[in-house]
Amino acid sequence: MKRTNKEAVLRLLFGKTAANRRQLADALIVLGLLVVPGLMLGTLVSGRIWNGRQTPSSSRWGWSLLAAAVVAFVAPAVVWTWPGQLLSGGISFGSVIGSGIVEAMMAPLTVQVITWLRQSPAPAAPTRQGAPPVGPAAASHASQHPAPTPASPLIHLGIDQVGRPADLDLGGEASALVVGLPGTGKTTTLVRLASESLRLGWSVVVVDLKGSGLMNRSIHALAERHMVPLYLVDRSEPDTFGYDPCSGDPAQIANKLIGSFSFAGVANVYQQVALDAVSQIAAALQARDGAVTLEKIVEALQPDEMTKLGRAASQAVPKDTNDPIDHMARMAALSKSAKETRVIMEGHIGIQKRLASLSNGTFRVLLRRKPALAWETVMATPSLTYMSLPTLASPTDVELLGRVVIQDVKQVAEHRLRSVAERPRCLVIVDEFAALNEPEQIVDLILQGREAGITVIASTQYLPKTPAILHAMLGAGVVVAHRVAGPDADVLAGQFGTTSTVEVTPNIDYTTGEVTRGTVRRGQTYTISPGQLRDLEPGHVALRVVQWPLPLRHRLVSVYREEI
Ligand SMILES: Nc1ncnc2c1ncn2[C@@H]1O[C@H](COP(=O)(O)OP(=O)(O)OP(=O)(O)O)[C@@H](O)[C@H]1O
Ligand SMILES: [Mg+2]
Repeated sequence: MKRTNKEAVLRLLFGKTAANRRQLADALIVLGLLVVPGLMLGTLVSGRIWNGRQTPSSSRWGWSLLAAAVVAFVAPAVVWTWPGQLLSGGISFGSVIGSGIVEAMMAPLTVQVITWLRQSPAPAAPTRQGAPPVGPAAASHASQHPAPTPASPLIHLGIDQVGRPADLDLGGEASALVVGLPGTGKTTTLVRLASESLRLGWSVVVVDLKGSGLMNRSIHALAERHMVPLYLVDRSEPDTFGYDPCSGDPAQIANKLIGSFSFAGVANVYQQVALDAVSQIAAALQARDGAVTLEKIVEALQPDEMTKLGRAASQAVPKDTNDPIDHMARMAALSKSAKETRVIMEGHIGIQKRLASLSNGTFRVLLRRKPALAWETVMATPSLTYMSLPTLASPTDVELLGRVVIQDVKQVAEHRLRSVAERPRCLVIVDEFAALNEPEQIVDLILQGREAGITVIASTQYLPKTPAILHAMLGAGVVVAHRVAGPDADVLAGQFGTTSTVEVTPNIDYTTGEVTRGTVRRGQTYTISPGQLRDLEPGHVALRVVQWPLPLRHRLVSVYREEI
């Protein structure tokens, strides 16, 4: 049955709230155990078999119905209140055994129905009344509305095959990887994680590299539901924040901008040339104007402009300050080397063209809009930040800006690690991470983020190819795998581990047809096999949480869908 139909039927039968339905399921469990205790035995056995083998939902329903059909024939053997009758001596021991076996056979269908009742839909997050302000007005709102008190430190992602909650402690994780083919439920999972983190009083930053309608709608709904300020950075909406890729000190600006471009092979020398020029120009611009912009850097990357900038910067900084930099001399030397050395000139022209095309490209309006998003602020208070950078609009600019955003978050992490102040928890979600084209910048963030209170969640359609990124992401505790294909299924199945098996192989004598000897072989089988990963339905995931003890570490889970 499609989920929407299922929800409609459940609402009609059992009332509006999910809590009602879960209470009903729990009441059924208690009643069942009192009236037919054999169910308990059957539940334990079927639960163990199904969970151990990660049996798919369709097979479980099939076996359950088969067992129920058998029960229909032997139903008269059930003695419904046998515990009482046994105590009063009104029933034989044989009848109790017979009744127990039939009751146990009812268990699979009962477990299925109860799990189904408990699974749908997601528990609603606590809400507060009224819509929060959006855009720059959100800043003042943040201080007036303190964080909600978290009811539980865990994130409730969904429910596993035998009805147990699948919880995560993202506070203890540096990162999580959400992987899956198109349409398998990645964005829905991210929305659930964002909602739960807001419930816990975290700040959440969503970088949407697809510009998906689902994410956009969900973000607005979540901000309203959790009554947190919503900081939007979106070129297609008028009243949103701008984005300033030139924040930080001169070295940080140069690293962010130049480090975010891909320079391959021989172009490496141009990268060094550009790094040197941009950091010196940024220092002179800060001395002259206090602020750096892309347009100003582009303008200053011409030899004649360099000398003018150097002169102005030296005049702007009084001689008696502690600024030890002689901007005039440095800019003059830079200008001279650009005129005399061909590789330096080419390096400057190359980077000037690339920055100019970014500055005048698709995100032109966003880069000029004021005020720009202040990372330290949004990551410090419970809030929701949504940055829409749709890759289809301009893949090259999105690749660069997305990488600069990672550097911005790293800057906050680095600052937090240096300070002794409290480190409020922040979840940074990157949807469709592959649009950044294997950004190595993320590796440091993953490695250092946890201590700084920052957890990164990347969603992607396929596993990263760069070994350092792949290892950092898989090395992190949480993997949420939706349906995947090809070699990714094999790699991920390896991540979910194996269990030991014992295989007995009979040796047959083909002349006599007799079994002569047998061999016993110890082997390993996947806990969750590549085949299972290739067959997952939308919203169903294989979940790995290394923090949990072994039986709960690798599970097939049905993810709660937020009601938006
Ligand atoms: N947890 C869930 N429960 C029920 N249905 C779900 C769930 N997750 C996803 N779906 C279904 O799958 C569809 C696709 O989900 P979603 O957009 O989240 O996938 P995606 O992997 O992000 O897709 P894309 O790669 O196109 O962005 C949804 O419209 C919904 O019908
Ligand atoms: Mg998506």
